[in-house]
Amino acid sequence: MIDTHSHVLPALDDGAKDLNESVKFIETAAKQGVKVIFATPHAYDGIYNCTKEKITESLKVLTRTLIAKGISTKVLPGSEIRVNHDLVMQYDMGNLLSYNNSGSWLLLELPSLFLSTAISAMIRQLKGKGITPIIAHAERNGMIANKPEIVNEFIYNGAVIQITAASLMGDFGKFAMKSAKAMVENDQVFCIGSDMHPGRKYRMADAKNKLIKLVGRTKAELITYENPTAMLEDEVLPYKKLLHH
Ligand SMILES: [Fe+2]
Repeated sequence: MIDTHSHVLPALDDGAKDLNESVKFIETAAKQGVKVIFATPHAYDGIYNCTKEKITESLKVLTRTLIAKGISTKVLPGSEIRVNHDLVMQYDMGNLLSYNNSGSWLLLELPSLFLSTAISAMIRQLKGKGITPIIAHAERNGMIANKPEIVNEFIYNGAVIQITAASLMGDFGKFAMKSAKAMVENDQVFCIGSDMHPGRKYRMADAKNKLIKLVGRTKAELITYENPTAMLEDEVLPYKKLLHH
């Protein structure tokens, strides 16, 4: 599996508090069959602004530790960018860290209130620059919960949807679970992530089993492995692999 959302880097945001905790998280992930974890610390969220430099430096230290401990699960760079009015400008200035620093995939956290037309315009702008926006934990956004058809609008404009593994298991409440399940059943989900933070259960293996029950093994593999492989390989959006059209 590929975990596409985590706060695994030590002491950067509200994620792992030190290197020891990072290693514990990664060992748990490895036991559940996760081969690659994208580290996605918070950026521009009003509290944390993990810069490219900070993330890259922290990842170097963590990678050295993983090699020394013989842990084969890889951690790769990324960031979870809070959407604000100057996001595209920040991207143009080279300030945003995309998945694998490849400039192809960007993890975006929507504000709790937004205008879907403004977000759609931003998605189109990013697509015009060759970037596919990935909407983080769409099932936990209040606006989307009230108006699920917004998801189709975002997909239509070129974004893909990520959900949190634990939401599928009910850890974020009934509503998030229902909404996550509906998106999976409607073939709207591109990938999942643990969004690992201290104090939360690591749910990638449970979520994969749930996906198999909901939509079968082939689609579960797409969501947990094949689709996010594109983020590793820096492929142009592999339409043949996408669940939606
Ligand atoms: Fe997160």
